[in-house]
Amino acid sequence: MHILIVDDEQAQRNILADILKDAGYKTDLAENGEVALRKFGANQYAIVLTDLKMPGKDGLDVLKHIHNSDQDTQVIIMTAFGTIPGAVNAIKIGAYDYLTKPFKKDDLLQVVDRAAEKVKLLKENARLKNEISNRYQYASIIGQSPEMRQIFSMIERVAKVDATVLITGKSGTGKELVARAVHYNGNRKEGPFVALNCGAIPETLIESELFGHEKGAFTGAAKTYMGKFEQAQGGTIFLDEIGTMRLDLQIRLLRVLQEKKVQKLGSNQSIDLDVRVIAASNENLEELINEKKFRSDLYHRLNVFSIALPSLKDRFQDIPLLVRHFLEKYADQYKKEIPALSPDALNKLEKYPFPGNVRELENIIEKTIILTDHNPILADDLMLPSTKPQNNNVKEIDSNGSLTDIEYKLISDALIESNGSIKKASEALGISYKTLQYRMKKFNMHKNDFR
Ligand SMILES: Nc1ncnc2c1ncn2[C@@H]1O[C@H](COP(=O)(O)OP(=O)(O)OP(=O)(O)O)[C@@H](O)[C@H]1O
Ligand SMILES: [Mg+2]
Repeated sequence: MHILIVDDEQAQRNILADILKDAGYKTDLAENGEVALRKFGANQYAIVLTDLKMPGKDGLDVLKHIHNSDQDTQVIIMTAFGTIPGAVNAIKIGAYDYLTKPFKKDDLLQVVDRAAEKVKLLKENARLKNEISNRYQYASIIGQSPEMRQIFSMIERVAKVDATVLITGKSGTGKELVARAVHYNGNRKEGPFVALNCGAIPETLIESELFGHEKGAFTGAAKTYMGKFEQAQGGTIFLDEIGTMRLDLQIRLLRVLQEKKVQKLGSNQSIDLDVRVIAASNENLEELINEKKFRSDLYHRLNVFSIALPSLKDRFQDIPLLVRHFLEKYADQYKKEIPALSPDALNKLEKYPFPGNVRELENIIEKTIILTDHNPILADDLMLPSTKPQNNNVKEIDSNGSLTDIEYKLISDALIESNGSIKKASEALGISYKTLQYRMKKFNMHKNDFR
């Protein structure tokens, strides 16, 4: 263990260093507070043994700095007889203990050994905590429910092989997160991860997006375009919302998957593909097959390995962990202190059905962080849609701009929507009438301005 000795008297420094070295500690010396802090910034010390009275930065300054640094380092203060009040003050600020000069070798070693033991314990605790949090988390996917543990082990197994994967689950259950986890934990992690949302691209463009086109292949094709399959060479292509794909394109896609070759539109040359395929759907593909909207041969081709993500309400045990994860994420993003959650508030969340799944929970926590300044967060602060949950209540927040701007926008949007009705706007935001009134006052907003 490494100990930093801080004293303005050279003789004292050397004696202390000799004793501590004999006892098996590694030591470093500093002749004043400034040097001490510089060395502290550059090294990891288990213990800092510092004189209280020194010219310039004194022992208390050193202590305060170390205490604020969020490290496990323990500070032992040395003080001359007669300045005990100062030492007591240091203990209050967070020093581990103090020694009154002159002290015996044994007294010194006793205090230092105890402090060293404490550092060991703190480190061990941190290690355990880290281990625990890792067990509830796989590739930034949070969950400790049996359902999620099973998903983690499926991801782990499938990532190692090159099989095609079909990920199913309702909107916001984490399909894309899982697709990325499969890619980034497999052999292709150095290669590209290329995502294409088949539902978000106009039908007429999907074909050339997927397969690419030659210059002049169709009106408007001014340049040769490398399709997503080619872009994903050596990596993974993620075909999101595969259920929305047109039947004729499904045939082409199936052919590409079978032959592992792709031809750009307007070209007769095939390109060999080395691409792993992961597809996702929030629609039930078997139902689509029955309705003749999805080809069963393509389905079987994609469904070599399938991962079905459970809805959040079916694994509500994960809600506390997810809440804590998102509280930390957004407190950090909006530069706020991480708030605690009152038991009532947690209870309210655990009872809510979350039609928008994890994405909705994430949005609710983000809004709560934005609109709440006190700690802990109370049940009333939570922006739960109080009316019957509808699917479109999951409004994404565009997180550019300052926190106040975002808050202002959330509130004014709600007021515009409600035609100036505070009651309706507060319901839409999921906050109490009084909270909204208070917030409007803060921004000098008036309901008449929204009529
Ligand atoms: N288990 C989880 N742990 C942490 N974050 C999660 C988890 N599941 C989902 N999320 C977060 O929720 C949001 C939605 O997840 P994602 O985009 O993967 O859902 P999706 O199933 O693809 O939804 P959609 O069908 O609407 O596209 C993301 O911000 C994601 O990071
Ligand atoms: Mg998605």
